[in-house]
Amino acid sequence: MQSLNLDLGERSYSIHIGTDLLTRADLLLPLLRGKQILIVSNTTVAPLYLEPLTQSLITARPELIIHTCILPDGEAYKDMAHLQEIWDNLLEAGFNRNATLIALGGGVIGDMTGFAAASYQRGVDFIQIPTTLLSQVDSSVGGKTGVNHPLGKNMLGAFWQPRVVLADTRTLQTLPPRELSAGMAEVIKYGLLGNLAFLAWLEQQMPGLIAGDQQLLSQAIDRSCQCKADIVAEDERESGKRALLNLGHTFGHAIETEMGYGEWLHGEAVAVGMWLAADLSRRMGWLSDADVTRVASILQAAGLPTHPPKTMTTDSFLKHMAVDKKNLDGQLRLILLRQLGQAELFDFTDLPLLRQCLNDAITNPHGF
Ligand code: NAD
Ligand code: GLY
Repeated sequence: MQSLNLDLGERSYSIHIGTDLLTRADLLLPLLRGKQILIVSNTTVAPLYLEPLTQSLITARPELIIHTCILPDGEAYKDMAHLQEIWDNLLEAGFNRNATLIALGGGVIGDMTGFAAASYQRGVDFIQIPTTLLSQVDSSVGGKTGVNHPLGKNMLGAFWQPRVVLADTRTLQTLPPRELSAGMAEVIKYGLLGNLAFLAWLEQQMPGLIAGDQQLLSQAIDRSCQCKADIVAEDERESGKRALLNLGHTFGHAIETEMGYGEWLHGEAVAVGMWLAADLSRRMGWLSDADVTRVASILQAAGLPTHPPKTMTTDSFLKHMAVDKKNLDGQLRLILLRQLGQAELFDFTDLPLLRQCLNDAITNPHGF
């Protein structure tokens, strides 16, 4: 097991990465304030992993009161109605302020459980047990929690840090290949935004990573979490550097919202978004054609799309991009690449250039 620390003063926590952590009750028990636990999971993950987790906790401490809330599976259910279901469970069980919520699942379950914990009785503890690659490298770390609104992705939420993150890499063995690829988009993101050596390592190791090599995946998760932890420790509330973690997301969220939540996976939409950000950076004169081809190649090697959905238009992109959370006073702000391995946040005013970039990507993908 490797353990990292996210340094946030009194809200600091450990991120443990390794095999069979799901049954390591010893990593969780010291963090519990009381006996009441609500495990939130979904209809796909619960049959696979709920029993070993519950058993290990109850065996180690029989007096624990463990309830479960099993939500339907999918991004389409990351909404207020299903958040309400978690609150209902907590209230019906009579849970108090010393209760702990445990998120067992991917980013959807993690984001929703975190928001439920942030808001229940003005805030109770929660623990992240991420079971997808995406959630192990990104969403379980850093305390962004929330749900979608029909008009915008992740528009309702709170910053609320978990007490600990347990990333059990063995759970990735049951993850469908499409989901592994989607998670790889966020791994590639760390290389593109700030670590060229990591990008080069990913280029070399991608066949093994995508084939599910446990050792390589552990290394990739460790390096990704370290990158995220460093950035979040510096800028927890996204007043500056943390926005770089949004590379590709302004375009990606537009795709997710326009296509209907769950149609495109988050990582797939982000992959296209990172390609668009690279191409726009090329049009700004910062990246070369070869750089943009390199971005397309690694995304494709990870089994990810690089073309926007054919049904999207430039106007539909711009409509959704106008409600991005990074925008301030109506000013569009984008993460672009000054060079590969160096992302920057820009107030973006050249609308004709952006329109051209989107239009070309839709009508003539990769025709530069
Ligand atoms: P997800 O939670 O929908 O999980 C993907 C699919 O894999 C689901 O069908 C799930 O049931 C299934 N699954 C999960 N673990 C499994 C396992 N071990 N074996 C088999 N199947 C398994 O999606 P995701 O990609 O994990 O997360 C995407 C979400 O995360 C989006 O809502 C996105 O907005 C959010 N996100 C949040 C942050 C953040 O900082 N909070 C960062 C990135 C993404
Ligand atoms: N995934 C973006 C962030 O955590 O800031």
